[in-house]
Amino acid sequence: MNFRRTALAAVAAFATLIGVGAAQAVTVGFAQVGSESDWRTAFSADMKAEAARRGINLSFADADNDAARQRAQVVGFIDAHVDAIVIAPVVVTGWTETLQKARAAGVPVFLADRAVDADPSLFVARIAADFNLEGRLAGAWLAQATRGSCGILELEGSAGSAPAIQRHKGFLAVISQFPYMRILRSAGGDFTNEGGRKAMEGFIRDDNGLKDVCAVWSHNDNMLLGAIAAMHAAGLHPGRGQIMVSVDGVPGIFKAMLAGDANMSVELKSDIGKYIFDVVEGYLGGRRDYPKWVLIPSALHTPEDAAAVIASHGP
Ligand code: AHR
Repeated sequence: MNFRRTALAAVAAFATLIGVGAAQAVTVGFAQVGSESDWRTAFSADMKAEAARRGINLSFADADNDAARQRAQVVGFIDAHVDAIVIAPVVVTGWTETLQKARAAGVPVFLADRAVDADPSLFVARIAADFNLEGRLAGAWLAQATRGSCGILELEGSAGSAPAIQRHKGFLAVISQFPYMRILRSAGGDFTNEGGRKAMEGFIRDDNGLKDVCAVWSHNDNMLLGAIAAMHAAGLHPGRGQIMVSVDGVPGIFKAMLAGDANMSVELKSDIGKYIFDVVEGYLGGRRDYPKWVLIPSALHTPEDAAAVIASHGP
């Protein structure tokens, strides 16, 4: 028996040495939104690290927030005959033709983070958090913090993107139940620091120094951090004069909380590469029982746990 086991081990070692039966590395095309926020940068880094951990060849395309460019990048993946495509769609519209092309070419498509308005049969699954819930969580926390009476400025994410659409809907669904809570004005900031700063400068200019503003609700942390800088420059006191609420839970917002400039952020997990590649590899390995939406949970943080979160995330 020992001789037989030894011989089998030798054959296996030799086969591995010459690559016989070695599994070919999978190639995945990843069409990423861009690098507009700290959260996006963290998500991209996690995807690259997780692919490397799994020996997956990741072909990474950065659309720089340009929807047409992203669709062309996905067509490029199809033409390159990748094994699978993962898309974090810049916007929800305009995807049907491109996804039909992927299906015709037999390349499975997976959505990550964001969503599309297209026939769900055109993609295997979407691995993402619930943006509408994030808006509801923010609205409910603000309603509790203000006892249901607050005039709110809204900083909106990129027009036509699933998080901007859904966070607005979820937030409004909750605050509209309170007769004395309302969104006074909204302005787009494209999910960037610069966008949030410019939008807030406009609000300050047009709203006599935010005299009637009780809170600022931002679709992500980076726009809120930009708004905080604009408010400081105008001699205002964000976090005290106005309650500051957002989504993402990036390290910078916890530092702002500890400085007293921000009050709440709904965490959007950025380390989701493991969930995404579990689904991709499972599907390529023959699994066909994935739900259309593989839900990533959302957590809510305040200054009370900011120090603990920073300690757990590191600097
Ligand atoms: O799609 C998720 C959103 O996109 C994040 O909340 C934001 O930071 C990013 O730009």
